[in-house]
Amino acid sequence: MTKLSAIEIYTKHAEQYDSKDFLKQVWRTENGEDIPAEQLNFITNSIRNALKLSKDDVVLDLFCGNGHLSSLFLDSIKGLHGVDGSDYLIQVANNNFRIENKSSYACSDLSHFDLDGILQNSYFSQEDFTKILIFGSIQFISKPLLGDFFTFLYEKFINVKNVYMSPIPNKNHAADFFKKRNIDVNTVNLDDVNSQFGCWHDPEEFVDIANNAGWKVCEIPFENCHYQSFYRFNILLSR
Ligand SMILES: C[S@@+](CC[C@H](N)C(=O)[O-])C[C@H]1O[C@@H](n2cnc3c(N)ncnc32)[C@H](O)[C@@H]1O
Repeated sequence: MTKLSAIEIYTKHAEQYDSKDFLKQVWRTENGEDIPAEQLNFITNSIRNALKLSKDDVVLDLFCGNGHLSSLFLDSIKGLHGVDGSDYLIQVANNNFRIENKSSYACSDLSHFDLDGILQNSYFSQEDFTKILIFGSIQFISKPLLGDFFTFLYEKFINVKNVYMSPIPNKNHAADFFKKRNIDVNTVNLDDVNSQFGCWHDPEEFVDIANNAGWKVCEIPFENCHYQSFYRFNILLSR
């Protein structure tokens, strides 16, 4: 049987649910149920705070999934363009969250660094973007490509002041995480980009990779009891 890519894994998962079942489509669940509203509020507020979002900001939401998460802060920014590799999830985003002259979505495989693909359908140009959000997804860029990916963002989006990446699976807590699921961590390939969790990272190595691409890097602690905080970390890049 051929192994599925991460994009195919997420597409197949999302297709099982009702077209309006936004949280389940992107696995925003705990024990199979939608996460509680307070956790969702917490996530949205932590993004607003980390990126210091304002009415002047134009946000590039990379790996945007179905667009539901960034739709929750659309009212506090000037505009948004979301990009994901799943045609199906981009269709959901277009059907539910596209707003004329404000929010748009494009399907592009982000491991290809295809600027035209990323910017297709966008109401905003390359220079208009001020902030980048990569939520639950930087782990889908393979480790050998990560440095080039950070350099690509640094060089192509020159007016982007911050990139917020959260939550990133922490390699140092992988054993605990899998033990809770009765899985021996030694049987799991923690560098496999084509899996539900993607690559697990060592925070120090991750910081070095981003630094070497030109970014200032700071780790942002979880603000309170986030349901994934025990095995993940958050990173903010600045120019
Ligand atoms: C965990 S979901 C996160 C979605 C969204 N950021 C959210 O938080 O709701 C991961 C997303 O990454 C997308 N993805 C995985 N690999 C990708 C790639 N190489 N290029 C573009 N999108 C990719 C999947 O299609 C999926 O929508």
